[in-house]
Amino acid sequence: MDRLLDTLFPTAEEIPEAYRLGEPLEQRDYLVNGELRRWDGPLATVRSPVWLREGDEEHQVLLGSAPLLDADTALTALDAAVHAYDKGRGAWPTMRVAERIRHVEGFLGRMRLQREAVIKLLMWEIGKNLKDAEKEFDRTCDYIVDTIGALKELDRRSSRFELEQDTLGQIRRTPLGVALCMGPYNYPLNETFTTLIPALIMGNTVVFKPAKFGVLLIRPLLEAFRDSFPAGVINVIYGRGRETVSALMASGKIDVFAFIGTNKAASDLKKLHPRPHRLRAALGLDAKNPGIVLPDADLDNAVSESITGALSFNGQRCTALKILFVHEHVVDSFLEKFQAKLAALKPGMPWTPGVALTPLPEPGKIDYLNGLVSDAVSQGAQVLNPGGGQSRGSFFYPALLYPVNPAMRVYHEEQFGPVVPVVPYSDLQTVVDYVLDSDFGQQLSLFGNDPEAIGRLVDTFANQVGRININAQCQRSPDTFPFNGRKNSAEGTLSVHDALRVFSIRTLVATRFQDSNKQLISEIIRNRQSSFLTTDYIF
Ligand code: G3H
Repeated sequence: MDRLLDTLFPTAEEIPEAYRLGEPLEQRDYLVNGELRRWDGPLATVRSPVWLREGDEEHQVLLGSAPLLDADTALTALDAAVHAYDKGRGAWPTMRVAERIRHVEGFLGRMRLQREAVIKLLMWEIGKNLKDAEKEFDRTCDYIVDTIGALKELDRRSSRFELEQDTLGQIRRTPLGVALCMGPYNYPLNETFTTLIPALIMGNTVVFKPAKFGVLLIRPLLEAFRDSFPAGVINVIYGRGRETVSALMASGKIDVFAFIGTNKAASDLKKLHPRPHRLRAALGLDAKNPGIVLPDADLDNAVSESITGALSFNGQRCTALKILFVHEHVVDSFLEKFQAKLAALKPGMPWTPGVALTPLPEPGKIDYLNGLVSDAVSQGAQVLNPGGGQSRGSFFYPALLYPVNPAMRVYHEEQFGPVVPVVPYSDLQTVVDYVLDSDFGQQLSLFGNDPEAIGRLVDTFANQVGRININAQCQRSPDTFPFNGRKNSAEGTLSVHDALRVFSIRTLVATRFQDSNKQLISEIIRNRQSSFLTTDYIF
């Protein structure tokens, strides 16, 4: 392991030409009211999780800097969004759906041109490996395409009138107002855009603040945002959340709060809003998804799903398997197979072909993970895998901890990193109680093959979590399926289809079904005197 760690970080010359960076990027631009403005105030230093070897020394790569806007400047972005919405009378919220779709298609075309730049920055800023970085970019583009398709479908269904109890009505989904969109550092592009794009396409205006890491990778998209939407429809700000976002929420002018992060931060920000009943929230929050291995499980499958479930992107996924309960009759064999698979995961730099384990972007994370491991070890757990828990700079080699029990912090805390706690059980009720008593309720995985046992557990857990995965790891995809959570794990449901509903409200235009009204409505439609009252069919 020492040798591996000694040579883990490359020298500058060892970085393949295609992935080298130039000079540090001093990013001073932010987008307000259709203009890229220059910030002359203080900047935040942006560092990479990648370190470089130079002789006997290793140092963290400096990537550049990003604006640290103050509250007043953040409020100018909010004012631009409020102005563009213009109490629902702005050009964007009143635009015909087909036209709004054209703007988003224009943006998507421009975004695709930045694929290489964004993928490179995903690797350098958050340490995501090349394959996953490419997947994140392409999945985001697919999400936009699917969102456009879903909106066309929604609009086609709204283009007809309905007759109920002598009342003629047309129902359409309309925007809510100004949306604040904030994504997480582990999917700084994808998860942010799964709220940002639906918010925009439904006619809301937006203030978008990039995640705490994965900030510079939004820069290549700023011109595309600026040129693809009317002024003020999308505004991009940077800075510390407690300074900028707090001011936005306290203004009372945010109508929709889309946030992926911790439940504590979400609660603190929601509380700042002076009229909470007027704030709709779409939140993706903490999770501690368990994997439950039953005695009759196919262990090869359970292990391979648990390895990717627990360790892809180093366990930094809200959907990661964060605790494994394995029946005592199969636990030895499970652990043996797990260790073999874990040993085959390749550590390295994000661009190294086939690499699975990469450095972590969060400062202080290595200390936190060491703290979890030493707490568990001091209470009787062992790190089973050779080299488990060893670290260098920002890199932490995964630790397989066994046996874990409720006295240990890792049994309860969301590690969000490469520590895999395994709890042996004999009485399934202890596992059921863990799920029932947990503060989280996003997903879980069941591994087993007995129809009676799996059927019963599905019923037991159906009211506890948002998704039960059978013989498969937890995950968000496919994006057309609902993604949500109970308890502290989420508010609202996202999917391509649901997100359009989260960022809109149905408005009904109704009239008594009588000749004079029929004639009136027919004329409005024939003369195209309304964007709402229309039977246009979007192809
Ligand atoms: O971090 C949470 C993400 O939504 C997980 O998405 O399951 O597709 O990795 P994923």
